[in-house]
Amino acid sequence: MTFPKSVKLVEVGPRDGLQNESKTIPTNIKIDFINRLSETGLSVIEATSFVSPKWIPQLADHREVFQGMTKKSGISYPVFVPNDRGLKNAVEAGVKEVAIFSTPSEEFCRRNINCTVEENLQNIAVMLNTAKANQIPVRGYISCALGSPYEGEIDPKTVADLAEKLIQLGCYEISLGDTIGVGTPTKTKKMLELVLKKVPPEKLAVHFHDTYGQALANIYVALECGIAIIDSSVGGLGGCPYAKGATGNVATEDVLYMLNGMGIKTGVDLNKIIEVGRFIVGFLDRPMQSKVNLANKGVKS
Ligand code: HMG
Ligand code: MG
Repeated sequence: MTFPKSVKLVEVGPRDGLQNESKTIPTNIKIDFINRLSETGLSVIEATSFVSPKWIPQLADHREVFQGMTKKSGISYPVFVPNDRGLKNAVEAGVKEVAIFSTPSEEFCRRNINCTVEENLQNIAVMLNTAKANQIPVRGYISCALGSPYEGEIDPKTVADLAEKLIQLGCYEISLGDTIGVGTPTKTKKMLELVLKKVPPEKLAVHFHDTYGQALANIYVALECGIAIIDSSVGGLGGCPYAKGATGNVATEDVLYMLNGMGIKTGVDLNKIIEVGRFIVGFLDRPMQSKVNLANKGVKS
């Protein structure tokens, strides 16, 4: 069995994590959080969302956070944008890369961005034109790739078709999201095999939430399939405001511990990540989700 020799970790804690925490974090703490993450060896840190403050009040300070944080050379700091307005605001604020949302689940689409799947695809086409005009690379998320909180089962063929469509529209990478964490390894494998018939592994990332404790097993399957880009969130922060019961993303500490043990390089320092996890969870009204962080006062990285 061959695994990728190295993996790119995409840290989504400041965005996917903080968007769902009940306690609003002060802007200076968010900036400190991102600056600390920038010292761990990560090469991608999703910084915030240029969203409506009415929809996601936790990230209403997106502009201040993006402009206040230190942008370290060699690190990309993409932001999430739900519409063309968010993208234009992001460009104006100096953002150099964005991530957009799509899903095969009609009801999740409506609850998340208040439009149909088809309307969203039309909006994405507009956003990709704006992005192209501004030389902004766009990452495409596919949410509910392994199940929807509203429709239940999702046909993996629909996910594969959507991934192909996003690439055709101009996304450089697709992040396949198990938004509610219902995937199991066999289901994950089936979905990935179908997607891989349409999109090559170097353009694919996986984004698991750990609701049922399946995230690491599913990541192992993705690695077996040759996928070498993994989204994770320090401390296991987050969840989804439009998917009741969905817990946080898989914890960066736990993914890193597994990859280190498998001899797969990431360039990220586990002990530094553990420290950042403790720093941010200390500001939240909830316990640490990372098993590695709970188990270790410091581990060899
Ligand atoms: P809407 O209500 O249909 O749109 O929401 P609207 O055009 O009527 O706008 C509503 C208000 O928001 C208006 O303000 C707009 O001006 C303002 P008002 O006139 O009422 O004062 N507005 C904005 N303000 C700032 N920035 C903007 C913006 N756009 C409109 N960009 C909308 C539609 C898309 C705006 C809304 O549904 C929205 O913001 N949704 C975002 C939801 C979101 O961020 N969800 C989380 C990200 S997806 C996710 O977490 C999954 C992922 O992690 C992968 C996975 O786990 O599967 C990616
Ligand atoms: Mg997510």
